[in-house]
Amino acid sequence: MSIQTIGVIGAGQMGNGIAHVFAQSGFNVIMQDLSADFLAKGLATIGKNLQRGVDKGKLTPEEKDAVLARIRSTISLEDFKDVDLVVEAATEKWEIKKQLFETLDTVCKPGVILASNTSSISITKLAAVTRRPEAIIGMHFMNPVPVMQLIEVIRGLATSDATYLAVMELSTRLGKTPLACNDSPGFISNRVLLPMINEAIFALHEGVAGVESIDGIMKLGMNHPMGPLTLADFIGLDTCLFILNVLHEGLGDPKYRPCPLLKKLVDAGWHGKKSGRGFYDYSGEKPVPAL
Ligand code: CAA
Repeated sequence: MSIQTIGVIGAGQMGNGIAHVFAQSGFNVIMQDLSADFLAKGLATIGKNLQRGVDKGKLTPEEKDAVLARIRSTISLEDFKDVDLVVEAATEKWEIKKQLFETLDTVCKPGVILASNTSSISITKLAAVTRRPEAIIGMHFMNPVPVMQLIEVIRGLATSDATYLAVMELSTRLGKTPLACNDSPGFISNRVLLPMINEAIFALHEGVAGVESIDGIMKLGMNHPMGPLTLADFIGLDTCLFILNVLHEGLGDPKYRPCPLLKKLVDAGWHGKKSGRGFYDYSGEKPVPAL
C-alpha cells in the first residue's frame, strides 16, 4: 500500500513537529487532538517554525503556505478511517495510549501501520491491545523534530518485517536517519541519556557544583549542544521522571532510581521550559538558574 496520508495524534511539542516534517515532505496530514484550542496552538507553532526557514531564505512564503495547506486538523479519530499510517504522539500515560490504540485498531483500515512516538512505553504491550500486533511499531522522533536527524525505530515482539521495512523507508522519505532497536525499557536513546541527566541532578543535589557549572562543563567539555540540566528542562522534568521510573521498574536496577531533587521539582510543578521554571527560570529575557 502506498503511504500518502498520515494521521498524527497530538498537536503538542512532538505531535506538531511530526505533522510539520510529514507535510514538508509532501504527505497529507490529519492532526488530531482533544480540543480546537490545542490544535490551533499546534498549527501556530508549525507556522512559526516554518517561518524560521522563510526568514533564512531556505523556504519561500508560498512553500510555507503549501506545507500548512497539507495539514488538516480534527478533534475526531473517526477522521482517521482513510489514513495510510498513524503516528501517535499523545501524553505519555499507559491508560491514554491503551485506549487510543484500541480505538485506532477499530477505526483504521486493516493493515494500516500504527506507530507510537512513545519515549518509553512498551511497543509489545501496546501491540497486544490491538488485533494487528504485526503492524505496531515505535517511531521515536527527537525534539525539536524538524531539526533532529534521528528516528529511533522500535520493533515489538510481534512487529513484522514488512512493517519494519515500510517504516524504515518512510523515515528516509522524511530526510531522517532511522536506526533500529528492539523493545526494551527506554529503548537506546533514553536508556543512555536519562542516567546521564539523573547523575547531573544528583551532582547538583549533593552540592558538587552549581547549575551553570554542571551545564558548562558538559557543554564545553563534551561538545554537547546543551548541558544536561538545560536539556532536562527542554525535555520536561515530568517526562524525565516518568522515563526514569520506567527504567527503574522495568530493569529493576537501583542505578536508575530518580534523584529526590527531580521528584521535588516535579511535585512543585516546576516542569522545565514549558512551565516557565525548572533548573532555570525562563520568565526573563535569558534563562537564569532557579536553584
Ligand atoms: N523547529 C524548527 N527549527 C528549529 C527549531 C524548531 N523547534 N529549533 C531550532 N531550530 C533550527 C533553527 O532555526 C536553526 O536553523 P539553521 O541551522 O537553519 O539556522 C537550527 O535549528 C539551530 O537553532 P538555533 O541556532 O536557534 O539554536 P542552537 O544552535 O542552540 O540549536 C538545538 C538548538 C537544535 C535545540 C540544539 O541546542 C540541540 O541540538 N540541542 C539538543 C537537543 C536534543 O538533545 N534533543 C533530544 C532530546 S531527547 C528526546 O527528544 C527524546 C526523548 O524521548 C526525551
